[in-house]
Amino acid sequence: MLYNHECRGDDQSRRLAGQAVAHLSACCGRTPEVIARAPGRLEVLGGHTDYNDGFVLAIAIERATVIAAATRQDTLIRAWSDCDESEADFDSARLDEGPWGKWWDYLAGVTGELHAEGCVTGGADVAIVSDVPVGGGVASSAAIEVASAVALSSLAGCTIDPEALALLCQRAENDYVGMRCGILDQFTSVFARPGQMLWLDCRTLERRLVPMGRTNARFVICNTNKPRELVASAYNERRAECEQAAALLGISALRDADEQMLETNAALLGETLLRRARHIVTENTRVQAGAEAIEAGDVEALGTLLNASHVSVRDDYEVSCPELEAMRNAAMVAPGCHGARLVGAGFGGCISALVDADAVERFAEQVGRQYEAETRLPATIFATAAADGAGLMPIESEG
Ligand code: GLA
Repeated sequence: MLYNHECRGDDQSRRLAGQAVAHLSACCGRTPEVIARAPGRLEVLGGHTDYNDGFVLAIAIERATVIAAATRQDTLIRAWSDCDESEADFDSARLDEGPWGKWWDYLAGVTGELHAEGCVTGGADVAIVSDVPVGGGVASSAAIEVASAVALSSLAGCTIDPEALALLCQRAENDYVGMRCGILDQFTSVFARPGQMLWLDCRTLERRLVPMGRTNARFVICNTNKPRELVASAYNERRAECEQAAALLGISALRDADEQMLETNAALLGETLLRRARHIVTENTRVQAGAEAIEAGDVEALGTLLNASHVSVRDDYEVSCPELEAMRNAAMVAPGCHGARLVGAGFGGCISALVDADAVERFAEQVGRQYEAETRLPATIFATAAADGAGLMPIESEG
């Protein structure tokens, strides 16, 4: 075994592992040689800062993708996923036949990147189960990438350092799947630890686990369940705008800009690029203030930062949508809410709210009712603590 963080299997992950083992048996008649788990993540602060070499604050959520896998004698990868209950077959020696625009692109992309690192995986039978909301802005893609990388590298007996593993998963998504994401999701899925907040400098990859001060508040994730379309192209467009703004300013990334520089160059940037850049500059400042608020257990200060972040990502970065606004508006007037913001890429998906622990149930009930009445879409709402990062799970004999 090479990637050897033995993740603490919580009860829900153990249930998912049991399901993955049962599916591996049903689809392929196999018992697992490895079981890997990788969580989704909650971006607490730092919207779209990662691909601008900026700062982020995130936790792993108590939702994960779990993969049970066993080696094959040939080079075929045969995989089953509960996301659409479908099976995929592809040849690990012929990855150029893809991508297919399907869920197994993540698995195939990771396989290709492992090969490029000198870790030749060969064939495998794979069963994937997940309770990370798909397309919800909580990194379901990273969860499947990281779980695939942990499972396949372990099966192949390669030694891969966790940082290299997170980076190769990002490359799989950038180059094979075609989403030019930053490093936030994969790093959080790998390096998060229970009860702590991951602070990451996306330029140097320096990271710190910030102890979360004692508070009586919880993060509550509220999914709009709005089907997201064209997210990758809109996301890639935002990224291109940031790169354009940085080039005009003569800096390598917007991380190096400040408000003074933006003001001086306002005419050069023009209105749209100025707003995009202003979001990144102010969001980086909020991440640093957020780390202090979290350590101090200052719920009021953190709530204020979440709200300012949302306004900035909505008005300056323009990645919100009516459903996210309806959900957030409902959250802001619900009992016990200190602040709320959209998370992840935007254009749909989830908001996260900071809510007094003893008000979570009433909050969820009221927000769900109000959102559903307004949008006619179902709301899915759950609270989460900061969970553990990815790793191998023990193989327990069933029964
Ligand atoms: C998506 C991407 C991340 C990050 C967020 C926005 O989740 O995968 O890299 O850019 O959007 O912060």
